[in-house]
Order: sequence, then C-alpha cells, then structure tokens
Amino acid sequence: PAGSNPAGDLTSEILHALSKSDPISSTETFPDVPFESLKAALDRLASRSMVTYEQVEREEALLEPEAEVIVSHGSHEARVFEAVRQVMGGLSIQDLENKIGDKTVTKVGQGKAFKEKWIKKDGAKLVALVDSINDVTREQLKVIQEKRTHDPKIIADLKKRKLLKMQKVISFRISKGPKFALKMVKEETDLTAEMLASGSWKTATFKPYNFNALGADQHAGALHPLNKVRQEFRQIFFEMGFTEMPTNQFVESGFWNFDSLFVPQQHPARDLQDTFYVSDPPKAGRPSPVSADDKQDYEAYFQNVRQVHETGKYGSIGYRYPWSEDESLRLVLRTHTTSISAAMLHKLAGQKQDGRVPPARYFSIDRVFRNETVDATHLCEFHQVEGVIADYGLTLGGLMEFMEMFFGRMGVTDLRFKPAYNPYTEPSMEIFSYHKGLNKLIEIGNSGIFRPEMLEAMGLPKDMRVFGFGLSLERPTMIKYGISNIRELLGHQVDLNFIQKNPAVRLDKN
Ligand code: PHE
Repeated sequence: PAGSNPAGDLTSEILHALSKSDPISSTETFPDVPFESLKAALDRLASRSMVTYEQVEREEALLEPEAEVIVSHGSHEARVFEAVRQVMGGLSIQDLENKIGDKTVTKVGQGKAFKEKWIKKDGAKLVALVDSINDVTREQLKVIQEKRTHDPKIIADLKKRKLLKMQKVISFRISKGPKFALKMVKEETDLTAEMLASGSWKTATFKPYNFNALGADQHAGALHPLNKVRQEFRQIFFEMGFTEMPTNQFVESGFWNFDSLFVPQQHPARDLQDTFYVSDPPKAGRPSPVSADDKQDYEAYFQNVRQVHETGKYGSIGYRYPWSEDESLRLVLRTHTTSISAAMLHKLAGQKQDGRVPPARYFSIDRVFRNETVDATHLCEFHQVEGVIADYGLTLGGLMEFMEMFFGRMGVTDLRFKPAYNPYTEPSMEIFSYHKGLNKLIEIGNSGIFRPEMLEAMGLPKDMRVFGFGLSLERPTMIKYGISNIRELLGHQVDLNFIQKNPAVRLDKN
C-alpha cells in the first residue's frame, strides 16, 4: 500500500520526475523531503546506475521583515510619493507623517524621493514632480521573494541595505543514469542452486559489491591501551637485540628488591610509607637456585651482599651498619622490576662461556607497587619498562647514545640528561625530553651504570659494565591517548567503551 515503504515510494517518484525532465534539482522537485531520506534513495538508485547525482551548494536570498513590508506596501520613497501625489496642492511634512503613520518611513522615504526627483518642496508643502513612478526596489524584492535569487549586483545592493539575508542551500542535481528505467528491478544478492537449475541466473540482475560498506561490529574482546603500548615497547626491545625477563612474581624478598641492589636497610625507600610489606607468610626463604642447571652459589652471594653492606668489599668501604638477615627476608610487593634484573644478572654471572661471562641485553615490562598517595598522575601500582645491558668497555657516553636511539624509535628526540642518585647506580642520570604540548621538559626515565658493590658481589667480572634504565609505561600511554587522569586508564573508574573503541597508536607517530 502507498506510504508503507516511504523509501521505495521516493525512488519511484525520483524516476518519474526524471522521465519528465532531466536533470532535476532536488530542492525544486522535492522541497519538503528531508536531506537524509533523499540521499538514501539516491544512493540506492545510483548503486544500480539508474541515476547519477551530484551535490550542489548554493546561496539563496531571503527577505528580511522590513523587505516583506516593502513587498506588500511599497518602498518608503514610493509610499511618500504616493501620499504626496494623492493630495492636490501638496502636503505639509506634519500631514505627511500623520498620513503615513511611521516616522522612519516618512524621513527615509522623503530623502530618497527628493533624490529621485519625484517630489520637491514648494513653500511649506511637498508637491509631486511626476505623475507616476516605478518602484524598482519593490519589484526587485518581489522577484527575490519568488525565485530566491536575482542579479548578483542587485542582491549585493539589497544586502547592503539590510533587506536580505543569505542562506546556504544544499541540493542534488539528479540526472538519468546509463541503466535508467521507471521500475527498480529486484537485485539478487546470492546465486542459488535454484537459479542455476532453472537458468534464471542468465537474466537476473545481481547487486554489485559495496566496497565502501563498513564491516559489522564484531563485539570482540579488546586490548587495553597499556597492553598495546607495551606491545610496541616489546617490539622495539626485540629489534634492538634484547630478550625478555620473566617477571611473573609480584612478591619479592627485601633481599632481591633492595639488598642485592646495594640499597641500605635504613634507606627511606624501605619505609612502610613507601613500600607495601606482606605479612603472611612472615618471611621468605634464603635465595636459592631456581633450577637444576643454575650453577650459582647462592649462599656465597648472600654472604657477599651482607659483607659489602656491613664492612665493605671489592674496594668499597660499605655502609658500615649491622646488616639484618631478617630485614632482607621480609616479603614486599616489588617496588621496581630491577629486583628481576638483579636476579637475572646474578644468573648471568654463573653462565660463563669459554671462561667468560657473555654480554647480555634483558628487558621487562610489568607491574610494580608503591605506597603512594593516589592522585591524577599516581597510582599505588603501575607498570615499569626496564632494560639492562651487560657488556665490556661500556661508557657513560654509550649509555646516553643508547638512550637517544631507544627513545628515538618512539619519536622522542632532543633528550636532556640530569645527574641523579640511585643507591645501585653510579653515575645515575634522569632523562628529560621537551614536551611541546606542555611547553616544558618532562622526566621520561631514570638510568645509570650499576655499582661494583652490586655486580661484583654477584660474581660478574670487574671489567664488565652494566647499564640499567627504567621508565613508566603509563606516562607515554597517557601522552599518546591524550589522558590527563591516570584513573581513566587503570582501576575501577575506567570507561570500558574507551578501552574497546580506541585504535592502536604508534609511538613514533604523532
Ligand atoms: N629502578 C629504577 C626506578 O624505579 C629504574 C632504574 C633501573 C634506574 C635500572 C637505574 C637502573 O626508577
């Protein structure tokens, strides 16, 4: 029944209109059909090559309220002329004003009527100079009221006189297409067994593929932005010859988290205010071999660490305090992944090849925990990107060069290095980069060369140097995704829609 399929009716209306005149303009032929319905119908027809169409934009002139009054009553000057002409012997200005009943019309109209030489002053009276006039403005406005356009010069003039306002109109110029017909044929979307059997496929019209159609939403799982950026970091590390460290343990002993790194037991970082301690089980076992092929002597290492803290060793005078085994066996939520780096370097020291400890490059990206006051940029847990490079003949300049290469791969250039302090590295450097958006230098990482107190206790050779560096995964992710509050990224306030809909980013692309 008519009207039950408005889109169908519209396509047929378009085809009929085109059969009578070609091309047609949508604003003239279908002035009341909404833009979207029209476009949908045209797209259906165009996909079958039955019509072609293009969108045209033009400006239409609309009358201002004052212009509407002119169309119905005449221009100010014409009204003044008419009033004066009607009275034999002329009119006084006061009479004119009374007759017209509008001060502005009288004043403006008089001036113009004088200029046009339609009236003149005769003593105290106004008299007509001609029998009839041509009210050009009114005629022009009448044309515009009907056609919404006129000679550009006239439009410009009337616009200047504030009688018109312009309006953009979008319309479609529609023409017959190569397959124009009055009826839409049914388009087949599938070639069926029946069509093959009956031979109807020979005459059937098939719907062409629409390569512009978007695929259906899959409602599949989505990777968290942190995981996407993590994946990019992993790729960079792998390309630079690093292997990934196993970081699958959140709980560490104080020994690996602090003591092995030459962090003294009174160091403020070990305070309850900074570190989360685990009370159950009450303490860790002593460090011991992780697997049968682990040839390291853990007992000797434990004693080396004790001595280097307590009395000094390897040319160091140590911290000179009574080192407590109980303190080193307390359990903590790891405050950094450098605890894993320490364990890996210790393992490396036991893996001599041809009597020599081989160079190595390790990285990890995983979660760490700190007892922090939560605010817009801090959480109690975050992810650390960490790397170590063990080799012979490494220099501080080499570390700076490496950092430039590493961050360069993320599009971060022009690094600045600032001397810093870590208990386990000497020298230590904070790494800064200029942030164009924030217009200032921001800290992007921490780095250094591990101390001999740490490395030699593990049994690494005296001439082996080890670079270490760490950065948060959250900071680059927040910058890349334009997030200013870390709680939008991690935790219970995260908007799942944001996680699902965000595309992957490239660290090296802005
Ligand atoms: N552990 C340091 C941190 O938490 C990072 C770091 C790792 C610094 C290795 C130097 C060497 O920031």
